[in-house]
Amino acid sequence: DGLNSLMVKAGKLYFGTATDVNNFADVEYQAIVSNKNMFGMITAENSMKWAAIQANEGKYSFADAEQVVAKAKANGQQIRCHTLIYTQLPPFVEEASWTNETLIATMQTYIKNVVQHFKGECYAWDVVIEAFGDSDASYRDSIFYRYIGPAFIPIAFSAAAAADPDAKLYYSDFNLEVLPNKAAAVIDLVKDLQARRIKIDGVGFQGHLVVGATPSRISLAASLKQFTDLGVEVAFTGVDIRHNSLPASDTALNQQAKDYAALAGSCLDVPKCVGVTLWQFTDKYSWVPNSMKGKGDALLWTSDYKTKPAYDAVMALLRAA
Ligand code: G3I
Repeated sequence: DGLNSLMVKAGKLYFGTATDVNNFADVEYQAIVSNKNMFGMITAENSMKWAAIQANEGKYSFADAEQVVAKAKANGQQIRCHTLIYTQLPPFVEEASWTNETLIATMQTYIKNVVQHFKGECYAWDVVIEAFGDSDASYRDSIFYRYIGPAFIPIAFSAAAAADPDAKLYYSDFNLEVLPNKAAAVIDLVKDLQARRIKIDGVGFQGHLVVGATPSRISLAASLKQFTDLGVEVAFTGVDIRHNSLPASDTALNQQAKDYAALAGSCLDVPKCVGVTLWQFTDKYSWVPNSMKGKGDALLWTSDYKTKPAYDAVMALLRAA
């Protein structure tokens, strides 16, 4: 048994991970990521983002993303497709001078082409992510917000729904676990889309959290339930629980284990929480130390592929479920 097979036995759809083509040559890594008992859902860490798929205007490059999809399918795994509208953008989108009309048209064309290309392959699409700020629940600055205003979100969801009616459509964000105002902004967004009869199926809690500052299982479950009460499903879509100082002491590793168990346990507690996805599974490839100097060791495997106390804690939790 592994994380995914136990998660499925506990009544959930999957336990998954992000991975990408730059990990393909790592043999030890592949032995773990290819095992569908361990991971039943795959997300491309970067290859399905606009910056990767359309680095230059007019030219689509699906090759990397297709390799991730093909490998997952060959291993009997499902795919969460990530992500259509996000700030990791190609220079031509970042630098062009747009009008409301030209940016809407460009966005609609991009979404249609990409979602149609992967039609039938995606359990879900993260349609829009990270649209709200942390401090006061207002919209974050982005090209899309600047030229289109809040309407960029319903426009994106409508375009995605038209291109693949079978993929679940998600909004995802970070810090929904810890910032009630930000969660409230996303609740309003879900209600607004529903009131306009625009398809939204799920909300992703990214789960980029901090050891010792991760909410309890009860509190996390209550946050998830605020969304499932609206009729949408939820999932943890990008989990890593980082240490703020390294190396981590045994005490810190045990706290990390408790925090991971709280997170996974909260998903078990909420019927419409469908699964948990790690943002990579080994510290070797985590984005955290690259972006936050001196922080990290946020995942379930060490850089040399030893399982950590947090892995044992999640396995024990799932075995008992
Ligand atoms: O591909 C280029 C490469 O050509 C170049 O040589 C190299 C030099 O810097 O950069 C490479 O691009 C990097 C890219 O990852 C692919 O490796 C970018 O610099 C780097 O910024 C980018 O980071 C990614 C980040 O999203 C970008 O926003 C991380 O790997 C990825 O883990 C992270 O993932 C996000 C989720 O999509 C959304 N939620 C938060 C999460 C963590 O930030």
